[in-house]
Amino acid sequence: MKLTRVPVVSILLLSYVLWPGPTVAGHESAGNESTDSQVVASGQYSLSNDWKKSRERLSYLQEKLDPQSQARVGPLLKPGGDYLDIGPGLGSMTGFFADHAGVTGSITALDINERFLAELAAISPRVKTVHGDVTSYDPGENRFDFIYLRLVLLHLTRSDNQALIARLHKALKPGGYLFIDEFVEGANVNRFWQMGEIDNRLPGYLAAAYKSLSDHMDFDQGYRLPAMMADAGLVNVNVDLTQQRVQGGDNAHGRQMQLAFEQLEAYIVTLPDHQVLFPLIQAAWMSPDAYWYDHGRIFVVGQKPE
Ligand SMILES: C[S@@+](CC[C@H](N)C(=O)[O-])C[C@H]1O[C@@H](n2cnc3c(N)ncnc32)[C@H](O)[C@@H]1O
Repeated sequence: MKLTRVPVVSILLLSYVLWPGPTVAGHESAGNESTDSQVVASGQYSLSNDWKKSRERLSYLQEKLDPQSQARVGPLLKPGGDYLDIGPGLGSMTGFFADHAGVTGSITALDINERFLAELAAISPRVKTVHGDVTSYDPGENRFDFIYLRLVLLHLTRSDNQALIARLHKALKPGGYLFIDEFVEGANVNRFWQMGEIDNRLPGYLAAAYKSLSDHMDFDQGYRLPAMMADAGLVNVNVDLTQQRVQGGDNAHGRQMQLAFEQLEAYIVTLPDHQVLFPLIQAAWMSPDAYWYDHGRIFVVGQKPE
């Protein structure tokens, strides 16, 4: 059914005003461990885990990403393996690695933010946590069977990621895998064309919002990763690229987008018509009448030669 502009706008605005905000069963929504959203300098991580709603944001992110990630990663894991999970966030993939490591395996979880590391250590006695910055971390040599990064490299816009991949390659055991799981497709106006049924300014506004964030997130880098891996000496480099059309509403897609935009609003307040369009888009993420193309997902894997 074709949406008519005025009623949909009214419903969206009303639902935004009335909506109490996200909650996740069993999770606290705020506490003295957390902070309000903060603007950080170019190249620094813009979606800090210290933010008061980051637990919810990461929880919905995991819910939406895990099925595709785990289907691709699972066949490469082996019992007794040594795993490195870089930027684990709330740690659903750390838990997945712990499930596959068997009693003799190990998982090292490295994050620049300390907030959730104690919880990750509690997943299993085989999980060791490291509080550190991957851009200066020395992972050693011939240590890991599997190194995994999901949604970390795209945030490292000022780092020498080619040198980082070379370091990770060195840290793999012969035959070990480097697996990079990223978003691609940020400021592509076609991702949001159906938002134009709500207000014809929304697709352009959203594309501009992504452009405003490009000092903090590089949605093109994913396409370059296969060549970067090959240049670092990895072999059997393979790529899987996929994109979904998703529906808004009270689901992981809607809530994750709404929370990410809430955390990042300070970066986009100067966009034209922001005061009108921001409430509209926040309501749209939470509306079952709204559809968009999610970020593309790129899964890039390479192996250290035997
Ligand atoms: C978008 S979250 C992704 C979390 C998790 N990988 C997932 O996909 O559910 C990015 C994570 O990387 C961490 N991170 C960001 N920059 C980092 C850095 N330079 N070194 C280590 N961890 C970093 C953040 O603290 C956060 O936990």
